[in-house]
Amino acid sequence: MKLLLGTLYLLGILVSEELGYDGSLAQHRREVVEETVSQRRGLDAYSYTRYHPMEEIYQWMIQISEKYAEVVTQHFLGMTYETRPMYYLKISQPSNNPKKIIWMDCGIHAREWIAPAFCQWFVKEILQNYKDDSRIKKLLRNLDFYVLPVLNIDGYIYTWTTDRLWRKSRSSHNNGTCFGTDLNRNFNVSWCSIGASRNCQDITFCGTGPVSEPETKAVSSFIESKKDNIVCFLTMHSFGQLILTPYGYTKNKSSNHEELIQVGQKAANALKEKHGTNYRVGSSADILYATSGSSRDWARDIGIPFSYTFELRDNGTYGFVLPEAQIQATCEESMAAMLSVLDDVYEKYWGVDSAGKAASSAVVLGLLFSFMSLL
Ligand code: ARG
Ligand code: ZN
Repeated sequence: MKLLLGTLYLLGILVSEELGYDGSLAQHRREVVEETVSQRRGLDAYSYTRYHPMEEIYQWMIQISEKYAEVVTQHFLGMTYETRPMYYLKISQPSNNPKKIIWMDCGIHAREWIAPAFCQWFVKEILQNYKDDSRIKKLLRNLDFYVLPVLNIDGYIYTWTTDRLWRKSRSSHNNGTCFGTDLNRNFNVSWCSIGASRNCQDITFCGTGPVSEPETKAVSSFIESKKDNIVCFLTMHSFGQLILTPYGYTKNKSSNHEELIQVGQKAANALKEKHGTNYRVGSSADILYATSGSSRDWARDIGIPFSYTFELRDNGTYGFVLPEAQIQATCEESMAAMLSVLDDVYEKYWGVDSAGKAASSAVVLGLLFSFMSLL
């Protein structure tokens, strides 16, 4: 009996030691699994109908480029004044044919929180649908999307920590007596000529010179380096429910103004179909106010054919402090407008009315010549 008990006791030690060893291995495995699961759950649980602090948006960018690694990559664009990294997401379907670029930035004005929310929504919609939705699939055949979810990161963080209605960047001026440049008055286009201020206390302070700020430098030099391939420049703001075309610095019209208005009006119609929201379309100088040094005007003047500012919801009821309850509807309708613009851009460069026409007239000519050679 004692022998039996002794054997059982020994067996017990051996078994539990086995378990102990195995247990810690299992625990390690469990930790690794939990880490990846929580990361995946992090993205699955990410709410696109809430506003997110910058740290969460940084994490979201990492997670989305990991989950959709086959089409999304994250790239460094530059540093903010307060030395935070600016990243954009590149959505690109691998392919050998040369592609054109769509640029979208959000949050150049810190307090317009619906704009970064829309950039994230836009990325999510493209990624969740590009495999099954023929419309998005088609766009990705010839277009790459470059999305900068928060342009003015320092200002955005300041609206979370200190002042919800801060608009500008956080650069320091006059020996630290006033802060912030209006980044959308700082681009190198008719700089500080109209609708902007040289007083650093003002909310439309144009900076100390054209492109004086690290954020506008980063965006400008990147866009400049890719400008020959960028067909559409979209910059997202709130509020006012407007689709704005160039220019803000003059009432003169860009060479393709009629086309810009036509494409913009069609987008406004598509937007209205979603939830009945009314948007107006026109140049900034005509339907909002005069502005100089805006990225939209600068982009148009360096030769990017389609350039728009979107002023999202609302019309002033909540203004910059749009309730989270309106994020979904705002993003749904704005997505409809974007896809309308993108369809039109696509049609212009790759539709049957451009390449197709050239191809079919070549066929007709070819037939004509072969017919003539028979005579
Ligand atoms: N986001 C606008 C800007 O860039 C501000 C719009 C204010 N809206 C308005 N309806 N006044 O200046
Ligand atoms: Zn704005």
